[in-house]
Amino acid sequence: MPQFHVLHGRETSLVLEDCAGAAPLWRYWGPRLADGFAAGPTLADEPCYPGFHMEPPSRLTLFPGLGLGWFHRAALEAHRDGSDFASAPTLQSVEQDGNALIFRLADPVSAVEVTVRLALDPASDVLSVTTTLANRGSAPLTIQWLASAVLPLPPVVERVRSYGGRHAGEFELLEDALGKASWSRNNRHGLTSHDTFPGAVAITAGTTEAAGLAYGAQLAWSGNHGQEIEFLDDGRRQWQLGLGLAPGELLLAPGESLAAPEVLATCSRAGWQGVASNFHAAARARLRWPGGAMKPRPVHFNTWEGCYFDHDTPRLTALADKAAALGIERFVLDDGWFHRRNDDTSSLGDWWPDAAKYPDGLGPLARHVVGLGMEFGLWVEPEMVNPDSDLYRAHPEWALQLTGRPMQTSRHQLVLDLTRAEVADYLFETISAVLHDLPVAYLKWDHNRDLVAAGDQAGSAAYRGQVLALYRLLDRFHAAFPGIEIESCAGGGGRIDMGVLPHVQRFWASDNIDALSRVEMQRGFLQFLPPEVMGSHIGTAPAHTTGRSQSMDFRAAVACQGHLGVEFDLARLGESESAQLAGWIGFYKQWRHLLHQQVWTGMLSDGLCWHAAGNADEWLLTVYRTAPTRQRFMPALPLPFVDRAAGYALRQIGPGQEGAPVHFDGSWLAEAGLPVPPTRAEQAVIFHGARR
Ligand code: GLA
Repeated sequence: MPQFHVLHGRETSLVLEDCAGAAPLWRYWGPRLADGFAAGPTLADEPCYPGFHMEPPSRLTLFPGLGLGWFHRAALEAHRDGSDFASAPTLQSVEQDGNALIFRLADPVSAVEVTVRLALDPASDVLSVTTTLANRGSAPLTIQWLASAVLPLPPVVERVRSYGGRHAGEFELLEDALGKASWSRNNRHGLTSHDTFPGAVAITAGTTEAAGLAYGAQLAWSGNHGQEIEFLDDGRRQWQLGLGLAPGELLLAPGESLAAPEVLATCSRAGWQGVASNFHAAARARLRWPGGAMKPRPVHFNTWEGCYFDHDTPRLTALADKAAALGIERFVLDDGWFHRRNDDTSSLGDWWPDAAKYPDGLGPLARHVVGLGMEFGLWVEPEMVNPDSDLYRAHPEWALQLTGRPMQTSRHQLVLDLTRAEVADYLFETISAVLHDLPVAYLKWDHNRDLVAAGDQAGSAAYRGQVLALYRLLDRFHAAFPGIEIESCAGGGGRIDMGVLPHVQRFWASDNIDALSRVEMQRGFLQFLPPEVMGSHIGTAPAHTTGRSQSMDFRAAVACQGHLGVEFDLARLGESESAQLAGWIGFYKQWRHLLHQQVWTGMLSDGLCWHAAGNADEWLLTVYRTAPTRQRFMPALPLPFVDRAAGYALRQIGPGQEGAPVHFDGSWLAEAGLPVPPTRAEQAVIFHGARR
């Protein structure tokens, strides 16, 4: 009798089938099946087109093997000094633990044991896959590839949306057709990277942002990674995601086991926005907030683009006064505060206040900020060292390096080997001393370069160890300073992922604060992570990274979609601009409880796109015009997220904009659409909608 293993979520189900002498077969992952459905017939008995095939022919399993009749990518590529390359673990036992299935597999010949845990969270519909590999042999096992998850995609899936980009140009949408040739994305930057987000969304031909079948997966990892979608003999595809490993990087000693990074995967009939909403719910369940719950996301002031390295205490004090008067709630002192740090050529590693800029330390400024009712935050870049620093002069051996290879700098800096306990201890103790002295509520934790010849003391690749050591160090700070929030920044958005998410409370999405650039980038960010952790600032005009100028209203409307901040020299603001900015800060504070709920985004024709946030009862809708119109009349905007059976009162809102309520029928809004007023390019209009 075949045995099927079934998990049901809210709107999805998955089914695996036991198969003698194999790992469980992947039968189904997709929209929810009926309770008590009858699966079958069994795949194992299905006849194969007569021809040149193995007996029996292999089908896609939870953990496809290598060298035993599976000709596609295997879940494990490993060996013991050239032996034991063939491996195909078979099912030993299955255990159900609530909404999770735990499959224990083993291959006695290659002497490996594998545990795959599939947990389908009914609240979010997100499938969490965790894979553990144990070496049961008597010699070390060298791992080249270990899939964190092997996921089945049905034949109707035809396209894949992933994200590329670069520094100051994160989350560039890439859409590729899936053919018979494999599709893959690999990251070798040593950290998550600006150009290869560790996840994607696979869609069918007709899928849109709000409707149609979509599958999403993301690897919870902040380092090198790979993902591949491969066409299979039965028209389905397998999607594998896992660590990217350098040669010899991962050796499992006899008896040792390895937990691969988690994969979060989900499926929705509500298009790629449905996938995004599920991921947001899963991220919210993983976020760890000081005090146990998220407090309303405070408005930041960040000194970077306004001051750069020019830290002049009277000027900073005046900026703090101005920030507080505008309603700002957290003042973040960016790069430039520590020992001899006057530009980006020196001092990383020397984490104590610069005696020339701060003769009495940072205390007076920090206390002034706190006295104004704001929180005080500080920028650090712990994993880095400049060759021109006291730290490097004392410990050149602490930098990741390889004998015989040049110490390649990037932004004049090298990377410290965090896997050395003395390095992690030094960073913890030096930065802790600053935190003990000051009322610091926030750390902006930066990482401004890629890893290249990242050799550890033994000359082995340390990319993976570096990521694990980072997670440990972040947790050490949280444990010692439980009230502190930490922001993940890496030259903007180089370290945005589900792996670092449980260790931080915010991401700096990009060094590009140009609001027009941010519209697309933020949409990409929100595909995988929720708005309350998306750092988005109102910058200056022209924008420092692009040279483009937009109005304060447009810059603010775009920045309000995430965790709001302000980042330019406030002293330049005239009276009316100050009032305008204060108006936007007040607007964000009034509405952040809606802005940080469910999010829907979409594109319309004629240069219009939109972003809505809230819930079906009450929401804010922002319609942006990114390009000049070519039409006489604006297209009406269908709102797929409203309750079709409800009536809504809509009014235009925003600082200085209080329209009269207009009543609409939900079905009319959903199908015929909301009439949108004519706007010029780079303008936004905001509507408040409430169920009547
Ligand atoms: C990176 C960050 C910026 C700023 C600078 C400071 O580029 O992304 O926000 O903190 O470093 O050097």
